[in-house]
Amino acid sequence: MSDARSSRIEGLHKMTPTERLQAVAAKAGLGNEAIASLAQAAEGRIELADRLVENAISSIAIPIGVATNMIVDGREVLVPMATEESSVIAAVCNAAKRCRPTGGFFTSSSGPVMAAQIQLLGASDPEQVRLKVYERLDEIRTICNETDPLLVKFGGGFRDIEVRVIETAEGPMTIVHIIVDTRDAMGANAVNSMAEALAPRLVEWTGARSLLRILTNLADRRVVRARAVWPLEEIGGEEVRDDMISAYHFADADPYRAATHNKGIMNGVSAVVLATGNDTRAIEAGAHSFVARNGHYGSMSRWEEDADGNLVGILEMPMAVGLIGGATKIHPTAQACLKLLGVETADQLARIIVSIGLAQNFAAMRALATTGIQKGHMALHAQNVALLVGAVGDEIDQVASELKALGKVRQDVAEEILARLRAGK
Ligand code: MEV
Repeated sequence: MSDARSSRIEGLHKMTPTERLQAVAAKAGLGNEAIASLAQAAEGRIELADRLVENAISSIAIPIGVATNMIVDGREVLVPMATEESSVIAAVCNAAKRCRPTGGFFTSSSGPVMAAQIQLLGASDPEQVRLKVYERLDEIRTICNETDPLLVKFGGGFRDIEVRVIETAEGPMTIVHIIVDTRDAMGANAVNSMAEALAPRLVEWTGARSLLRILTNLADRRVVRARAVWPLEEIGGEEVRDDMISAYHFADADPYRAATHNKGIMNGVSAVVLATGNDTRAIEAGAHSFVARNGHYGSMSRWEEDADGNLVGILEMPMAVGLIGGATKIHPTAQACLKLLGVETADQLARIIVSIGLAQNFAAMRALATTGIQKGHMALHAQNVALLVGAVGDEIDQVASELKALGKVRQDVAEEILARLRAGK
């Protein structure tokens, strides 16, 4: 990289976002169009962006659409979904409509319990370290709860410890899990602070050295389950049902298929997590590691036939989302999305998110087991392709419908159609 394009920009973090944008643009040789586009995207939100992240220069708007037809535990709910992918929201609306006759989605939850890990090293007898930690349970409870009295006031706080000895490439290590009820918070800050406060005392008591102190995203004590029954006539008959079950068996047996099957589930899950300002990466890490926790990566969901021949879907996954803290509390759009959902607790939000994941999975499996996904996907994608080639106003629909009619939703074809339209042919 030449000096002019060096990635060093002295004092970038001290500049205002506008100054930063100019400085970055000058370094990267950005033209006026790109600068204007970045400046425009941030309009009205740049102060917020500046508060949320370092070196902010802009923000990116992801569309929010609303999933209709959802009934979760008997409550009708409109669900905001932030996604850039066509078909995702339409798929949920369709799947949710088809299980309305059987009451929609039914959920259960293990409660908002998170864990942090403290890594203890260097002890001659890791098993003894394990026992010494267990002997200090009462003191550990006091230290953890003193770290977050507000959480305790709201009914949360320290619940338990689990101490494991694991085998590693450099020998055994003792790993202490502190288990905490984090109520309506996602809980990362609460458990991380507790782990950091506790670690020096563990060192004192055991003679071991402490190294990492951080939450685990494998939140297997914060698991939410959603179940729904799709009546046979809403699926398209026995053959479609059986093919959907075969699609599930494929995903459960084969990690190559499971990755895509589960990606479809996360299309729905992450869209609601993002719309509510929660941490999509934490949820994704938790979801995938939960599936693989026994050494095999298979399907996140389960599908089976009930005694009446209907299709039953079950999705069980960790769901560490919060209503307080992080971007959820600060971002006005996230706040508005929470109002739209009408949830009062993080647990209610978690239940809706897992239900959306199940609906998404139903829609993808049904499409794949019947017509394939390209038909529905391409109809919506045609609009994107029209936009991509520069269609504006009425041209967008005209180009999109010609692409669909031709059955060729491709950029080169869209360019030809647009050129023809503009030439008045
Ligand atoms: C596309 O974003 C998601 C799907 O690939 C999911 C699946 O294959 O089950 C359609």
